[in-house]
Amino acid sequence: MRMILVGPPGAGKGTQASRLVDKLGIPHISSGDMLRAAVKEGTAMGVAADRFMKAGQLVPDDVVIGMILERIAKPDCATGFMLDGFPRTIPQAEALDVAMTAAGFVIDVVLLFEVPDAMIVERGVGRRNDPITGRIYHVKFDPPPDELVDRLVHRKDDTEEAIDKRLSYYHAWTAPIVPFYEGKGLLRRVDGVGTPDQVTARVNVALS
Ligand code: AP5
Repeated sequence: MRMILVGPPGAGKGTQASRLVDKLGIPHISSGDMLRAAVKEGTAMGVAADRFMKAGQLVPDDVVIGMILERIAKPDCATGFMLDGFPRTIPQAEALDVAMTAAGFVIDVVLLFEVPDAMIVERGVGRRNDPITGRIYHVKFDPPPDELVDRLVHRKDDTEEAIDKRLSYYHAWTAPIVPFYEGKGLLRRVDGVGTPDQVTARVNVALS
C-alpha cells in the first residue's frame, strides 16, 4: 500500500503512523524526521533547512522533493510506503504524481487528520520525543514514564510562536492539497479529536 498522511502540525500523524507501520509492514517516511536527522548530522541540506524549520516555515520545495523522491526509490519502498508530512504544497503533490506515474505506481489512499486549530498549540507545546526509541509522548495526554523524562527532547519548533507560524503555513500551503486528492477520489477524512486509541479505531475504519 502507498499512502499519505496529511494534517495540521500536531494532528497526530506521527503517533498514528507508528501504530500503522507495525500493522501494514511498510516504511514510515516522515519528511520532518528526515530533515531533523540532516540537521543533526550537519549535512549541507540540514544546514540549509535548519533556519526554516526553527522558524516554523516550510523548507523550499526543491530540497524536500529531491529528498523524498530519492527515498521512495529505495528497495524497501518497492511494495509500499507511508508518507508523513509530504507532500505539503501543490508543487510537491504534482512532483510526487509525476514520479509515481514514471515508476508505474499509484497512491492508494490519503488520510486527512482533522483537528481544530484551538487544540493544536497545546498538543505541540506538550510534546516530548524519545530520541532513542522515536516514541512520541505528551506531558498531559500521554505522559512518559518518570525514568525516561531526562532523555526526552522538546523540539525547537514546538514553541507557541513557531506552532502558530506552522499552522498558518498549513492553511496557506498545505490545505490546497486536500481538494487536489479529493478530486482524485483518494481522500479519507479521520476525526483526530479523542484519545489516540479512538483515532486509531477511526483510521482502521477509514482503511477498511
Ligand atoms: P514535521 O515533523 O512534519 O511536523 P508537522 O507536520 O508539523 O507535524 P508534527 O510532527 O508536528 O505533528 P504530528 O501530526 O506528527 O503529531 P504527533 O503525532 O507528534 O515538520 C517539521 C518541519 O519540517 C516543518 O515545519 C517544515 O519546516 C519542515 N518540513 C517537513 N516536511 C516538509 C515538507 N514536505 N515541505 C517543506 N517543509 C517541510 O502528535 C503531537 C502531540 O500530540 C504529541 O505530543 C502526541 O503525544 C499528542 N497526541 C497525538 N495524538 C493525540 C490525541 N489523539 N489526543 C491527544 N494528544 C495527542
